[in-house]
Amino acid sequence: MDNFTFYSPTFFDFGREAELHVAELIRRFGGSKVLIHYGGGSIKKSGLYDRVIGCLDEEGVPYVELGGVKPNPRSGLVYQGIELCRKEGVDFILAVGGGSAIDSAKAIAAGSVYDGDFLDFYHGRADVEKALPVGTILTIAAAGSEGSPNTVITDEKTLIKKGASGDVLRPKFSILNPELTCTLPPYQTAAGATDIMIHVCERYFSNTSEVEITDRLCEGILKTVIYETPRILENPNHYEARANLMWAGMLAHNNVCGVGREQDWASHNIEHELSAIYDVTHGAGLAVVAPLWMRHVLKKNPGKLVDFATRVWEIPLDETNPEATALQGIEAFEAFLKSIGMPGSFEEIGAKKEDIERMVDKLFRNSDTQGNYVKLTREDVIEIYKSAVKGS
Ligand code: NZQ
Ligand code: ZN
Repeated sequence: MDNFTFYSPTFFDFGREAELHVAELIRRFGGSKVLIHYGGGSIKKSGLYDRVIGCLDEEGVPYVELGGVKPNPRSGLVYQGIELCRKEGVDFILAVGGGSAIDSAKAIAAGSVYDGDFLDFYHGRADVEKALPVGTILTIAAAGSEGSPNTVITDEKTLIKKGASGDVLRPKFSILNPELTCTLPPYQTAAGATDIMIHVCERYFSNTSEVEITDRLCEGILKTVIYETPRILENPNHYEARANLMWAGMLAHNNVCGVGREQDWASHNIEHELSAIYDVTHGAGLAVVAPLWMRHVLKKNPGKLVDFATRVWEIPLDETNPEATALQGIEAFEAFLKSIGMPGSFEEIGAKKEDIERMVDKLFRNSDTQGNYVKLTREDVIEIYKSAVKGS
């Protein structure tokens, strides 16, 4: 196990009706004027918006609001949010929604107290050292932004989708009421579950040895997602299954599973090029990319893929041919993704073979390789993208 530091100070309020504590939590964490930031309207349809506003009104917490965050959030709305916060003297940001609303809120939080262009954080030109405090009310188990120090934004001018990170961006509190996720369409539930699995895989596929504790945490989360997702798709109001998936989403990405080990992140980087250009749902893009990444690295470094097959998918080890066992694990993963309605090809997400060169150019603009489990070259990534084209 490698040396590490781990700082994860988010306060979690988990369970039924937890959103009713929002005003009290904002006060506890020092908010006196709030920006409520949300997406395209699901929170209004579900009644959550009215409950949140009702709580703030009742407790006398002043607020302004900015809705309209799109999935794969864009820089334009972030600039608007920064301007609004400065004009209104906002000192606390409440994101209500999924990873997109939360990531956009984090960008506004950092940008409001920064003199330069907030995109500096995303293009590696500045570190996030200060930010307004952020709180969240989560409505989808997926991105893990409710407990992570990360935010991902698409620069509208260049269509470059990039992440920024900083411990000051970890939410001060996150309200996780599994009931709020019951209104999700099946596709979003499944895409969220896929994202959770790949957050674990990015950490699981590591060359660091002797990391039994994080290996087993990773396997436990993967097995939970495999168990709970079909139960939810069968019965969307299954509270206990929703609850387990929601906590899995947080544990998958607050880095408790990633400390002390090298991490990969090639699948995410390869996927971000797809969601930047085609606006594909992040988890659905990962469903296409991640199994193909696994097939690609299998020959070069089968070790953890054998563990993935035997420990997660419970495939008996063929000691004479461990690679064949690993391949069965990948096939089991692909079959699972298909069974929950996830895509497996470029065609299913509207991606085009003609754009491969352009995506690879963008991906490799500042680096020669991608990932760590196997360091992928430009040619490797081209091969992975090409293998996503049907009939290839
Ligand atoms: O916009 P609204 O109307 O709210 O609808 C959303 C959106 O269309 C809808 N939705 C959310 N909760 C709902 C609901 N619909 C009905 N009922 C509910 N309870 O679902 C759609 C997707 O929402 P979004 O916030 O985009 O989903 P997700 O949480 O998957 O976030 C995806 C974004 O997070 C980034 C992704 O790249 C993507 O941009 N990521 C952020 C990470 C981080 N900050 O740590 C890590 C991840 O790897 C990921 O890259
Ligand atoms: Zn992700």
